[in-house]
Amino acid sequence: MEEYFRSPKKRGKIAVFLSGRGSNFLAIHEAVKSGKINGDIVLVFSNKKDAPGLQHARERGLETFYLNPKNFPSREAYDAQAAEEVQKRGVDLICLAGYMRILTPGFCQQFMYRMMNIHPALLPAFPGLHVQKKALEWGVRYSGATVHFVTPEVDMGPIILQAVVPVKQDDTEEKLSARILKEEHKIYPEAVRLYFEGKLEVRGRRVFILD
Ligand code: GRF
Repeated sequence: MEEYFRSPKKRGKIAVFLSGRGSNFLAIHEAVKSGKINGDIVLVFSNKKDAPGLQHARERGLETFYLNPKNFPSREAYDAQAAEEVQKRGVDLICLAGYMRILTPGFCQQFMYRMMNIHPALLPAFPGLHVQKKALEWGVRYSGATVHFVTPEVDMGPIILQAVVPVKQDDTEEKLSARILKEEHKIYPEAVRLYFEGKLEVRGRRVFILD
């Protein structure tokens, strides 16, 4: 992993990758529209034809692109095509927002520090899937959300922002997920905002937020 990175201060081009409902995408889109984020969403990409997030994007007049995994012989070939779509639009930052497909190490390397993800737990606790359920099973008192840079090791990249929520004794997976999601919608746009303000500095595995 590169030791040092400083995010660019510029009007950025953003690609959102999603596979599902797209509520984080919508939160980022709102922040773009209100001028909070100095950037534009130039592509909403999905591996799922019927992802509701793609429909939301179309309704908002954004460019969408669906790439069918079945048409590719390997993950590498799929990701190479995805990378090409991203590159040809001059994308500065990829935001994974519920993109339910493991990215190849090559893709992660290619977009190192130019790709973020949102995860519904306080990493490095509970990486992977069904993490709200796991938080309940473990009886943790607090959980939350994490925005991090994406590296080849799933859910383990440098942490940009986190938000904490309490876990209540009568929580269900749904209730806890909803509480966390509310925080996701705050910290993801905020992380993207900081990125294009040139305020994120990576030193080793730590991300510093500059004044
Ligand atoms: C969120 O919980 C996010 O943390 C996880 O996938 C979910 C996506 O939700 N990575 P949405 O599609 O943004 O509504």
